[in-house]
Amino acid sequence: MAIEKVSSEDFERINSAVDKLKMYFSKKANEIGRPLTYNIRTYGCQLNESDSEKLAGYLDQMGLVDTDAQPADVNIFNTCSIRENANDRLYGNLGVYKSEKLKNKDMIIAVCGCMMKVDENIAKIRKSFPYVDLIFDPQQLHLMPILLLKSLNSKKQAVEINDVDYIADDNNMPITRKRKFRALVPIMYGCNNFCTYCIVPFTRGRERSRDFDEIIKQLNDLAKEGYKEIMLLGQNVNSYGKDLGANKSFADLLRAAAQIKGFSRIRFMTSHPKDLSDEIIDIMATYDSIETHLHLPVQSGSNYVLARMNRHYTREQYLHIVKLFREKVPEGAISTDIIVGFPGETEQDFEDTLSIVEEVKYDSAFTFQYSIRPGTKAATYEDQVPQDVVTERFGRLLELQNRLVYESNQRMVGKTYEVLIEGESSTAPDILTGRTKCNHLVNFIIPESVCKFTDANEFEGKLAMIKITEAKPYSVEGVLESFINE
Ligand code: 5AD
Ligand code: SF4
Repeated sequence: MAIEKVSSEDFERINSAVDKLKMYFSKKANEIGRPLTYNIRTYGCQLNESDSEKLAGYLDQMGLVDTDAQPADVNIFNTCSIRENANDRLYGNLGVYKSEKLKNKDMIIAVCGCMMKVDENIAKIRKSFPYVDLIFDPQQLHLMPILLLKSLNSKKQAVEINDVDYIADDNNMPITRKRKFRALVPIMYGCNNFCTYCIVPFTRGRERSRDFDEIIKQLNDLAKEGYKEIMLLGQNVNSYGKDLGANKSFADLLRAAAQIKGFSRIRFMTSHPKDLSDEIIDIMATYDSIETHLHLPVQSGSNYVLARMNRHYTREQYLHIVKLFREKVPEGAISTDIIVGFPGETEQDFEDTLSIVEEVKYDSAFTFQYSIRPGTKAATYEDQVPQDVVTERFGRLLELQNRLVYESNQRMVGKTYEVLIEGESSTAPDILTGRTKCNHLVNFIIPESVCKFTDANEFEGKLAMIKITEAKPYSVEGVLESFINE
């Protein structure tokens, strides 16, 4: 598979397509007497979220208006293929759009994301959903304007699935960020690890790191624009730079990011335990702006299962990293991903998972039931675990994890934490929500004695000291004591 940089000529072609589409949509808007709208549904991980922000950037440039209302004039489904159930959801949604498309022939439907790297999914859309206008895979995301133009001109389905893994320079792309204080910054694309259960190396291609100086330029620009939180993203950030031959590592990048003035929070994910270096932990302990939270997927607590998953670490090695992190970052938090019911997992293997969860005391955990992904090595394993056993084990794991999270939340009561305010809570008006440096979710009120609460947006991206008053199962509640002047 070839890896190519998107060239300046490519960007010229893309920008020219954007200009033509802008004229097309403006003419349409005049005809129907209102601006045209777009809606992007994003499934899956933060990298998909980041891709959607780029698609939104292009659509904004074309003069379209973002809307939550569905269907919009342009509808994009940015899909995820990490587990089976995502497929069913997409097909259900596309079915619903059939009658809408009959009512409004000018409506545009696009499907992109990781599901579009799987041949059967593309074949199914071409056969069963011929009214889908464009299909492209994650590596061809930047080509969306060219494809859209092609489909409008030809009135045919435009498909762009390619064997080239592109690296697009984000500095040349429009990006409409979802949150005004948070910037998602992919530092690398793809994955080389081939964990035996995982489809990502097939959908996102080989590991390719963005140029070091380009990332630093982007970060400096983001700081100047006033972003307070940056999230450095990659399937395995710890292997950043290995393909560059420029002697730059993730440690160099993290250190350089921490030295840029203006960011209150630097976050990063995901760290693979086999590549996480002591140096990264030292950097986390040194710089105040780096969050004291490590997302360290364990997947299983059993050495037998870890080996069959091709994870390249043992339970003992994993626990060694945890010990090191706890020593150097005593206030830090650890979160994880866990798969229950991997082929061949015995009751004893599962109990090893329960015991590692109990030992690490994760502050949060994303728990998944194993899902067969055709094309992966584990899909060929014959000792698949029966669904009733998986369901029963999953319930036990959830119960344990919920107890640990609640205990962790209870330990916070009575203490005061620095919180980056994210905005209004989704559960109640006049309640704000934010995260501590350890990524703990905090809901809080602002007492009138501190300041008059008017508009939640006003507080987004500000830092404040919050005293925790109550623990809830998945969050904590508190009261704002003071704002931090930066
Ligand atoms: N089944 C269940 N969970 C999976 N994950 C990845 N592939 C699968 C699968 N086939 C989980 C892993 C990974 C997270 C992003 O998704 O725990 O860390
Ligand atoms: Fe999938 Fe493993 Fe790569 Fe993570 S490290 S994306 S689990 S193959």
